[in-house]
Amino acid sequence: MLAELSPELIVEVQRAAILLQTASKVCILTGAGVSAESGIPTFRDKQTGLWEQYRAEDMASPDAFERDPQLVWSWYQWRRQLVYGTAPNPAHHALAEWQQNAEASKPPQTQQQITLITQNVDDLHEQAGSSVTHLHGNLWRNRCNNCDAPYDNEFESSNVIHKKVSFDDKLIHCSHCDGYIRPDIVWFGESLPVKAWQIAESAAANCEVFISIGTSSLVYPAAGLAQLAQQNGATVIEINPNPTPNTMVDITLAAPAGVVMPLLVKQVTNK
Ligand code: OAD
Repeated sequence: MLAELSPELIVEVQRAAILLQTASKVCILTGAGVSAESGIPTFRDKQTGLWEQYRAEDMASPDAFERDPQLVWSWYQWRRQLVYGTAPNPAHHALAEWQQNAEASKPPQTQQQITLITQNVDDLHEQAGSSVTHLHGNLWRNRCNNCDAPYDNEFESSNVIHKKVSFDDKLIHCSHCDGYIRPDIVWFGESLPVKAWQIAESAAANCEVFISIGTSSLVYPAAGLAQLAQQNGATVIEINPNPTPNTMVDITLAAPAGVVMPLLVKQVTNK
């Protein structure tokens, strides 16, 4: 694994690990890049096959659903098929191991507090064993677009196992108000879930180290969390093989999360 990283990058990983070893509060924000090595395309990746001519940004909006609910529902059913059956990669596992390790350390007052926040709607962090706050909803849940009533259908997942999944793209009507059923996902222009955002803001404002993993840092308000953390004195680490517009970064680890995270966690936990 070390062979995949340049000597400069290994030095930067060590620098990050030293900082993290002494931090009592760490806030981690993940984006689509953390799931890329599990085979889930990111939002800025070009779409393939049937959906080649569509952009993800143009589908994930209330206007798009208003205009053509069938198109948007079919697109999400396709995304569900893409995500179904994918498994956590070494980055998800390393994060879960780090959290579990911190929770197990004694005495409890000395435990490192690691708050994991994700923009992803997949449940790969949960599958790996992490506790995570979702800012943008959950791909496996549905609700009514009109009255917000949850739609308990076969997509309901136990966080880990999706029982009886249907990828039928026939539109479903709400039994309460006849509105259309939609995925319970935060679309562009919609508000984030209040409680999740409170957790994220508080963790970012109070952490000593903020880690941004696999996000293009283009979509607000999540992209503003790094700035909030830094304004409150935190060091910002970014893990992304590609450059981002995030100018807050103190330490850049420019490599895939599935390569960097196991190495970083190994050094932080001394395991
Ligand atoms: P994006 O698709 O915008 O960005 C993914 C980022 O992951 C890019 O910066 C890639 O360089 C990086 N990346 C790719 N492979 C990686 C790897 N193996 N390891 C680490 N990083 C890697 O995804 P997000 O930033 O998550 O919102 O997008 C934010 C939001 O915009 C999404 O939650 C979604 C989207 O539209 C909604 O659906 C509301």
